[in-house]
Amino acid sequence: MRIAISTGGGDAPGLNAVIRAAVLSALHRGWDVLGIKRGYAGLLGEDEVVPLTRDAVRGIAHLGGTILRTTHRGDPFHYPTRRPDGALEEMDRSGEVIARARELGIDALITIGGDGSLRIAQQLVSRGMKIVGVPKTIDNDVSGTITTFGFDTAVNTAIEAIDKLHTTAESHDRVIVMEVMGRHAGFIALHAGVAGTADVILIPEIPFSMERVCDKIRARDRAGRHFSIVVAAEGAYEVGGTESVIGASLPGQEKRVGGVADRLARQIQEHTGKECRSIVLGHLQRGGMPTGYDRLLATRFGGAAVRAIADGKFGQMVALQSPNIVCIPLADALAEPKRVDPHHDIVMTARSTGISFGD
Ligand code: F6P
Repeated sequence: MRIAISTGGGDAPGLNAVIRAAVLSALHRGWDVLGIKRGYAGLLGEDEVVPLTRDAVRGIAHLGGTILRTTHRGDPFHYPTRRPDGALEEMDRSGEVIARARELGIDALITIGGDGSLRIAQQLVSRGMKIVGVPKTIDNDVSGTITTFGFDTAVNTAIEAIDKLHTTAESHDRVIVMEVMGRHAGFIALHAGVAGTADVILIPEIPFSMERVCDKIRARDRAGRHFSIVVAAEGAYEVGGTESVIGASLPGQEKRVGGVADRLARQIQEHTGKECRSIVLGHLQRGGMPTGYDRLLATRFGGAAVRAIADGKFGQMVALQSPNIVCIPLADALAEPKRVDPHHDIVMTARSTGISFGD
């Protein structure tokens, strides 16, 4: 039996722990393991396919990033390929991926990725490949699993940043707007904002009004709290508006969401007369060591993915449905993206402890 492992989409702390657990679990069964580098690019001649031995995964569980590298631009169904005239064109190269996997004698593949990579996996399964998915994203926006690994680390990084911003904001009587990742979901902003005791939390699931945001800041001022911390999910937008998008995307890449913090800081300063600053936490949230929680979850996912292959659960994804790790069809996980429920207890508690959502 020979299996392969690939990591796709944005990296997330815990990827290496999944790889390690899957490799050791597979070797334990006497299977052979290959690592496909840079997502499906590794099967399209752009990078390499490497043997994953016990030595290859030694001492990596605590490391951020992925030893297999990754890319946001590896969709083999829309693969950016250079034409003879030098221009990039998106081409369907899925047939080559399937043929190369067959050539390498790969019996089954573990693909570790977010909704984009899992959707590609689903399409490849329908073309006959045997794939088990492992959900990964700091955004926590994959349905069917209580959480994805990487999310807890990102939230902790954001909380640490909020703690630091509090002291400087208070010293200067400033409003500081911190933008966190999450694409179209507000989980990082909500969890970090509540745990970090932000004053305003803005998430895409609850469109905000600038006036309401400013009302909260003015009310704090009147109460003698001359500083405020606003945590904005990068996908947050005003009622009647749309998400801010930064620059043009490269071929094969999704549009980049962001820029809301800078816009908000300028507008809050204009409306309230208070001095405002903005910060984009950005890729700091994706880097560094996974927390203990993420390391354990990632390890559980890696072991469960190998068991899923042994049980022939192809076209399925491992998922946390506490207290157990289960397997669910990729189709179920991908039917609806996971979003913050505006009536969730965390939102209700945030409101009742005085946090404004700008609505
Ligand atoms: O999906 C993970 C994520 O970090 C999002 O939160 C963010 O919008 C995006 O990836 C950033 O992607 P990139 O690494 O291409 O800038």
